[in-house]
Amino acid sequence: MKENSRECRRYIVPYRGKIRRDDREKLLGQRSFVLWFTGLSGSGKSTIAHGVEEALHKMGKLTYVFDGDNIRSGLCSDLSFSPHARSENLRRVAEVIKLFLDAGVICLAAFISPFEAERRKVRKMIDCNAFYEVYVKCPLEVCESRDTKGLYRLAREGKIKNYTGISSPYEEPASPDLTIDTSKLSIYDSIKTVLDFLETKDLI
Ligand code: ADX
Repeated sequence: MKENSRECRRYIVPYRGKIRRDDREKLLGQRSFVLWFTGLSGSGKSTIAHGVEEALHKMGKLTYVFDGDNIRSGLCSDLSFSPHARSENLRRVAEVIKLFLDAGVICLAAFISPFEAERRKVRKMIDCNAFYEVYVKCPLEVCESRDTKGLYRLAREGKIKNYTGISSPYEEPASPDLTIDTSKLSIYDSIKTVLDFLETKDLI
């Protein structure tokens, strides 16, 4: 008989341990939150996320970077780039981030996450109060001229399907918490902008 997942869930009773997120945060001396970097491939999401992580690490903060290419090499290696698969990619990531937030860890997520509705869903799933959307803004022409992975060229040649910006859309965030224009700012200044933002929000 085929098992129905909704039916199975009816008989799941989550255990609520005595040690909570607050306790872990206190132990670590930090508050957990997520910075969600969205933007085109080649816009600089991973570079900035890792740069911010290095700075926070030096400040004694426990962090973790969730990076699209890395996550797609393991947890989501079975997923394509169709809208449905991208949605499932982000759903899985959001579930893992929820656990890391509960563990008290500062999470830096770098995903193209091209659809506004999907980003909204992720924000709601994770924790609206600890979620900050960072739009890593960069014109397609600039990302394409950087072409750090050589994938834009392959997409232009039609060798990669559903490539964001070429054959699949990227919806600009309507109201991001922070926007960083990497066609104008250096990597150093981009990272500094994020750190300043965190200070303003009293997160570090
Ligand atoms: S997302 O749309 O589902 O959020 P994600 O951030 O995980 O994307 O992965 C994007 C990375 O996968 C890109 O940086 C690029 O290296 C690679 N990639 C491979 N195929 C595609 C594609 N069709 N569209 C976008 N990125 C792709």
